[in-house]
Amino acid sequence: MATQQDTQSDTLFERFLAPMFNLLIDREALRRYYESRDWEADSEQLRQPSLAYPAYYDQNFHGIQGGYLSVNAAITYDPVTQYLLPPHEDWVRRGLIERVRCQPRRVLDLGCGTGSTTLLLKKSFPQAEVIGLDLSPYMLLVAADKAAEAGLDIQVKHGNAEQTGFPDASFDLVTASLLFHETPPLVACNILQEAFRLLKPGGEVLILDGNQATLRQSDWLTQIFEEPYMKDYAAGDLNNWMSTAGFGNVATHEVWWVNQVTRGVKPLPYRKVEFSRPDALGDRVWAGARA
Ligand SMILES: C[S@@+](CC[C@H](N)C(=O)[O-])C[C@H]1O[C@@H](n2cnc3c(N)ncnc32)[C@H](O)[C@@H]1O
Repeated sequence: MATQQDTQSDTLFERFLAPMFNLLIDREALRRYYESRDWEADSEQLRQPSLAYPAYYDQNFHGIQGGYLSVNAAITYDPVTQYLLPPHEDWVRRGLIERVRCQPRRVLDLGCGTGSTTLLLKKSFPQAEVIGLDLSPYMLLVAADKAAEAGLDIQVKHGNAEQTGFPDASFDLVTASLLFHETPPLVACNILQEAFRLLKPGGEVLILDGNQATLRQSDWLTQIFEEPYMKDYAAGDLNNWMSTAGFGNVATHEVWWVNQVTRGVKPLPYRKVEFSRPDALGDRVWAGARA
């Protein structure tokens, strides 16, 4: 559980948002969940021992020391996030689902966190094999708990979205929700390149995140949540990043005012068609071709 030492005390987040969330959150329920298991022992089952955490990741996020590599971040994530996705969390997440055009058989949700979008993907495409991947073993434990409680069969994998280790062209749909504002733009571009590699031709990538145009105009929004890379994310252009990674049909749609969904398609391979005279025509001379 969060202690006084876990959090910074002089930031906008800690001065204004944390006290408000403290009022809204059921601390007693969180304490019970925290004490319900041995987080270190259970996370051992999930951890990839060879995984090296990228430098940008190993720092404080949202005023929590250790960022996502802390149990506290994992157990407080859902109770807080519900208030951060107006007008309604489920509605915003459905903004991504509604823009999927294929009937995927294999889905990968990158930076899946506690699995809220991953679970929605499984509910929406029950026939699909759905995998959630994240760098935080604690977030993955919460995702696995939620899947078990909902009776949904999803797999969780400890890994880096920049280099997942899955084979080329092994997914129909790759998604990421609320991941890109947490990473330096270069990392977001690497993740898009990895998504391109992982998708079958014709496969789709969908990214749900903060609305870059809105964030650019609202400095306070980029500061208050203590996201180290939010400002850089806001200054960028996801359409551009996606096109550079090789995706076609790239388009961004606003989800209410503060969020956006960007979709791209991995193009089908280009095949040069050689036109030759069909045999069936034999030596017949076309009327229009007579001298
Ligand atoms: C704001 S949370 C979003 C979680 C979830 N997708 C959602 O919509 O609620 C960002 C998540 O991305 C994860 N993450 C950040 N960088 C990552 C990377 N390179 N590879 C995999 N996960 C990453 C964090 O551990 C965290 O769980």
